[in-house]
Amino acid sequence: MNNNEIIDHVVVPGTFDPVTFGHLDVIRRARRLFPKVTVGVAASARKHGVGPTFSLDKRVQMIRDALVEEGISERVDVQPFTGLLVGFCEEVGAGGVVKGLRAMTDFEYELQQADLNYHLSPDMESIFVMSSPEYGCVSSSIVRELASLGSDVSFLVPPSVERCLRERFGKGAR
Ligand code: PNS
Repeated sequence: MNNNEIIDHVVVPGTFDPVTFGHLDVIRRARRLFPKVTVGVAASARKHGVGPTFSLDKRVQMIRDALVEEGISERVDVQPFTGLLVGFCEEVGAGGVVKGLRAMTDFEYELQQADLNYHLSPDMESIFVMSSPEYGCVSSSIVRELASLGSDVSFLVPPSVERCLRERFGKGAR
């Protein structure tokens, strides 16, 4: 059976540890394409045996602050979630998931996730936007590494996130 409903609400999911200009670029694009966007912040207990650097509450707050700072908070809600992404989408009433693609390595990973999500919830659309070339090299792990080594990260994250990195890494982050 086909679902022909028009999608008016999407989720932009991620761990956002922390949110970067790359994520904000994807949220900005999703917001141009759909009337309502929910940023879904995954609890993401462990990745490679290590938990996120920032607490779930802090990651949610950093995104809310960054959206205001970037002037894209209208029509964008930010909510934490635990469990399955498709379950969260159903909970908030979203018909699709929007993610950014930077390189072929992203594509393989995202295709696998999209396939999995399709099997879990066939009506949930997986929608991809191409990252702007200037954000091709941006990732949360690179931001954390540079900040912990005392490097300037102002070209990767908004000022409010930079402040949080400085608090987290102390003198490490400039
Ligand atoms: O920013 P990330 O860490 O690449 O985001 C990955 C995320 C949170 C979108 C993905 O891990 C996810 O969907 N997690 C929720 C659990 C889930 O639904 N798993 C099955 C589909 S992969």
